[in-house]
Order: sequence, then C-alpha cells, then structure tokens
Amino acid sequence: MNDLSADIKSMKLYHHVDRVVNELRELGKDETGPLLVDELTAFDQLHYHGTEAVDEAIRATNIDEGSSVLEIGSGLGGPARYLASVTGAEVTALELQEDHHLMASTLTERCGLDDRVKHLCGDFLTHHWDGAQFQAIVSWLALYHIPQRDVLLERCRSLLEDGGFVYAEDLCERRPFDDLEREELATDLFVNYLPSRDQYRQDLIDAGFKPILFEDMSDDWAVFTRDRLNSYLEHRDRHLRVHGEEVFETMCAFYDTMVRLFSGGKLGGLRVVARRI
Ligand SMILES: C[S@@+](CC[C@H](N)C(=O)[O-])C[C@H]1O[C@@H](n2cnc3c(N)ncnc32)[C@H](O)[C@@H]1O
Repeated sequence: MNDLSADIKSMKLYHHVDRVVNELRELGKDETGPLLVDELTAFDQLHYHGTEAVDEAIRATNIDEGSSVLEIGSGLGGPARYLASVTGAEVTALELQEDHHLMASTLTERCGLDDRVKHLCGDFLTHHWDGAQFQAIVSWLALYHIPQRDVLLERCRSLLEDGGFVYAEDLCERRPFDDLEREELATDLFVNYLPSRDQYRQDLIDAGFKPILFEDMSDDWAVFTRDRLNSYLEHRDRHLRVHGEEVFETMCAFYDTMVRLFSGGKLGGLRVVARRI
C-alpha cells in the first residue's frame, strides 16, 4: 500500500468493502457464480443518482460502441460496468485502493464483462500509461481526492485524443471553510483539492480544455444526501441484519457528515463537461 491509499481510509465510506459481500449474500448469490450488472447497481455506485449520473456522462460525451473510455477513481467498478454494458464501449477503470480494485475486478469477471472493462490499480498522478489514448475520461466524486490539479489535468490532456471529452462530477467550495473545517474535510472526506467554481473552470481553461457544461449540483446533492440518510435510517433493521452494527454505524456517520456539509452551504458540487482543444 502506498501512502495515499492508506491515508484515504480516513474516509468512512471506504472502510467496509465487505458490504458488497453482505449484499450479495442477501440476494441469495453464491461466492463465485455469474451476476448481472443490474443486480449490483443498488450498491456498487459510490456517487449520487447511481446509473442516471452515468447515463448523463454517456449522453454528454457521445460514448458509444467504438469508444475507449478511462474512468479515474473507479471504486467498486459500478459505473465502469454499467457504462460498458449499455454502450459496448471499452472502459479502463483505474482505482487507487487495492481492496476496492480487487472487489471491482471480481464483480466484473462474474458479470462476464472482463473483455470490455479493464481494471487497473494505481494512483492517477503516477500511473504509467504506455501511450494509451482515450476518447473520453470520466470520473465521479474522485478528483477532489487528488492533489496537484495542474498535473492531473495535464495527464488528462495527454491521454485524450484531440477533441476528446472530460466528464466529471466533483466537489467544490461555495463559501470559504475555516481552518478547523478544512482539517475535517481532509480527514473525513480526504479532500486534497477544493477550488471555487470559478477556479475550477479557470484550471480547465489553463490546461487547454474548453468548458462545455458547468452545472451546479450543490442544492440537488444536499437533497440527495438528506434523502439517503433518511432512507438508510428508515431501513435500520434491514441494514443491521445484513451488515451488522459496525457497518451500520460507520455508514450512518458518513451519510450524516455529508448531509451536514452540503446543507451547511459551504460545500458544493459540480457536473462538468470539457473538451480538449
Ligand atoms: C467516491 S469513490 C467513487 C467511485 C466510483 N467513481 C463510483 O462512483 O462508484 C472515489 C474513488 O476514487 C478513488 N481515488 C482517489 N484518489 C485516486 C487516485 N489518485 N487515483 C485513482 N483513484 C483514486 C478512491 O479510492 C475511491 O474509490
């Protein structure tokens, strides 16, 4: 494990990869048999609005059967599998955390999608690409984890074909956080870059991208995260039975933190589409 992949475990969302195993058991699945992409989407999408948000990316970046797509920070592989299964695109899914990467690879294989989704474990800032090129780079709630936005965008640019798209759902700062709050963000969310909306756009322009869409998701995600917490609490007995107390408490604490941060009005969210020029 490198430092980054150890440090990111300060974020409670990433503590219990075995949640997937519990959900599969609940579905009556054995430990190795075949799975359908749709059977997993209720628990393998670690962002807001599940597969609807992936459909947004497909529409916005014209991904189709001939496309070669890179996902940065692919988590349990949910978006990559869904994207490959509905479009037929070839997806390269890069994930920092080894436990998430291994779980993602297993699920993809069990879905019979390992010919279209290639899982890689590594840090986007240092991964060696050996001349790979993509038509689109997509990312859901991962970029804010990654420091050095200039390096990140330069790497995106060099991996994209001319005219290729970046689609990102990401966090931003709506109003300034104080030092204590920043410390909390660094630990509880593993935030390493949190620009304002204007700075976010300027970074893209400076790196040679033309912003095409810049949608403020802050209010939407404030509602989404509140509904998510309420629904999790409503199904308390189910979650305690399926996952046990430790997972339940960990997830409640994480969901509660997100509600507090989004409804506090300082943390914001963005959906961004930009084109390499
Ligand atoms: C909130 S999760 C979202 C996962 C996936 N995109 C999804 O929506 O289901 C963000 C993921 O980004 C990964 N990540 C963070 N920093 C990374 C880096 N430098 N390189 C690759 N992946 C990274 C994290 O390990 C985490 O799994």
